[in-house]
Amino acid sequence: MNKPARYLITSALPYANGPKHIGHLAGAYLPADIYVRYLRAKKEDVVYVCGSDEHGAAITIQALKEKTTPRAIVDKYHAMLKSNMADLGISFDIYHRTSEPIHHETAQEFFTALNNKGDLIQKETEQFYDEEAKSFLADRYIIGTCPVCANESAYGDQCEKCGTSLSPDQLINPRSTLSGKPPSKRSTTHWFLPLDRHEDFLKEWILKEHKEDWKVNVLGQCKSWMDLGLQPRAVTRDLEWGVPLPADVVGGKGKVLYVWFDAPIGYISATKQWALDNNKDWKPYWHDKDTKLVHFIGKDNIVFHAIIFPVMLKLHGNILPDNVPSNEFMNLEGDKMSTSRGWSIEMDDYINDFVKQENGGDMMVDALRYYLTQIAPETKDSEFTWKGFQDAVNSELVAIFGNYVNRTFVLMHKLCNGKVPPMHMDIADDADRKMFEEIQNTKIKIQDLIESYKFRDALYEVIDLARKGNKYMQDKEPWIVAKSLVADASAQKLIDNCLHVCLQLTANLAVFVNPFLPFTAKKMCYMMKVVDKILNWENAGKSKLVSVGYSLRPPELLFRKIEDEEVKAQVEKLKNKKLKMENTDPKSTTEKTETVVANVKPEIQFDDFAKIDLKIATIVTAEKVEKADKLLQLEVDLGFEKRTIVSGIAEYFKPEDIVGKQVVVAANLAPRKMRGIESQGMILMAEDKGGKLHFVNPETIIDTGSGVS
Ligand code: 2FM
Ligand code: ZN
Repeated sequence: MNKPARYLITSALPYANGPKHIGHLAGAYLPADIYVRYLRAKKEDVVYVCGSDEHGAAITIQALKEKTTPRAIVDKYHAMLKSNMADLGISFDIYHRTSEPIHHETAQEFFTALNNKGDLIQKETEQFYDEEAKSFLADRYIIGTCPVCANESAYGDQCEKCGTSLSPDQLINPRSTLSGKPPSKRSTTHWFLPLDRHEDFLKEWILKEHKEDWKVNVLGQCKSWMDLGLQPRAVTRDLEWGVPLPADVVGGKGKVLYVWFDAPIGYISATKQWALDNNKDWKPYWHDKDTKLVHFIGKDNIVFHAIIFPVMLKLHGNILPDNVPSNEFMNLEGDKMSTSRGWSIEMDDYINDFVKQENGGDMMVDALRYYLTQIAPETKDSEFTWKGFQDAVNSELVAIFGNYVNRTFVLMHKLCNGKVPPMHMDIADDADRKMFEEIQNTKIKIQDLIESYKFRDALYEVIDLARKGNKYMQDKEPWIVAKSLVADASAQKLIDNCLHVCLQLTANLAVFVNPFLPFTAKKMCYMMKVVDKILNWENAGKSKLVSVGYSLRPPELLFRKIEDEEVKAQVEKLKNKKLKMENTDPKSTTEKTETVVANVKPEIQFDDFAKIDLKIATIVTAEKVEKADKLLQLEVDLGFEKRTIVSGIAEYFKPEDIVGKQVVVAANLAPRKMRGIESQGMILMAEDKGGKLHFVNPETIIDTGSGVS
């Protein structure tokens, strides 16, 4: 689209049925927050909305579990989620809730508008019914075995293990979550959104118009859905808790809107409430084509945001999302993150263990934001480990970024009386000029990456610039130059130039890091005695951000090291939590069931497969990547050229044991930087049940460079 007049950014509304973990944070909230903070720094008109999803079976089932009412559940967890998000620096313009009257009215109006236009159809259907509990069983009221991954506790609307969106009829051995008994079937009338009527529009809009700018995982899921043929989706339910159907709908008594019909409308009602609170008009944000609407979500929400809600929006006369950047899942210490199985780090726990501790505070918020962005599951599932967290914080945030800023301030106080020294252009050299060029280039790279939702690469550029700053300072050695001052007073000019450059770089680093680590940027402003306005993006890349002669405060610690004991304690805590959960919640053990049926990714066409160029390569050299326990840097011979490949196999192979081995390489994979090293391909590995990796290689040695198909 052309330059948008305004932005409306949303993060998936979390169910207010319990605490949320850091995988949720990394999936839908942190990336959106980075994007929004960047847009705000660019002074764009941007509204960032979210809120608690307070309807649906997720809530009522939790109420049953906690032996309380749905209202008590949503009140409790809404308060928790709202405060957790604020503590972690997620800067919503409004964090709303779907139990508010304004939301009920908005959702009812939406339903009426579509129903009156004939965009919904009414159908009598057979639905699962619990004779004992005298209740229809929709969505999470029914569980059974997932037909895709054999998880025995898949819900009627979705399997949480593999993320597949399901309908109750697809479950194998369905049983009621109310009585535990197999259900019967009864007929009931519901309203449906006939998605099949919109197939042509969706194919054109998603697969053609957004072919280039939507992420591959999003396009892939949409295509799989559409290839199966779109079906009418029920948008009402026989439940008590939810948005009741409008009173004038004949036959609507006792029915509520399906939570996935009302929840995304929550983005609209939140915008309305924000507008009311701020004396603004909400309508342009949902009606004007020059608004850029972006939904940040996790991968289990793709079809709802890329297929179903857009159809609803189109029928209702609203704008459509410009993008739906969805992340994959973040695993934890080798297993899927799951609150119900006790294998998770809740946001609330992290806040209590680190942020609210004596040596914690905002720096530990930014430490988490840093690591979660660095390992963001942007293109495939990723893995949080406490050791990885420690490494990222200690060897990157503390040793590179924090160290650079600290040294700059310390030296400036020691060698320049705590004032920004002048730049003596007559003796400026190539290294000084190069540093300013690097700042300019970094600005361009970061903005391009953020605007294409590649936050982890963008953050890498920030750290890389600090790394270059350290090298610049190390090469200039102002502390050594200072020793010659007694004999040669003109040496001060060299010191001035070095620290002038370092300080301008520091100010730029504050601007660059601000969307990612806002508390750090703020602290840097405090140290530089400048107002936060300096963080506006128009200042990025400027070479005169802090004025000559201006006296600055002494440095403060930006980050602290994570100690080995902390890592150990957290890993222990995690294991204990899981054990406790297994002993108290028998249901959770069913989720552990080993996958026995094919756990296969969605079908792809031969053409998709044929795009991957697999080649036999020979490993020529192998060495450990410094400060990365899992990585080996390999040089492989492809016959026609040699390549560097960084591979996560260090835990299983010693470098000296694998030189000379033949392997299969995905040779046309786009290069990717890992720990600052460009990896130019990927080695295929097989993973056994215990998680150990094995090479995939030909039976006998064959010509290097042979194709594999
Ligand atoms: O998956 C979930 O947690 C849902 N509560 C997300 C809803 S997003 C939107 F539609 F509101
Ligand atoms: Zn499954």
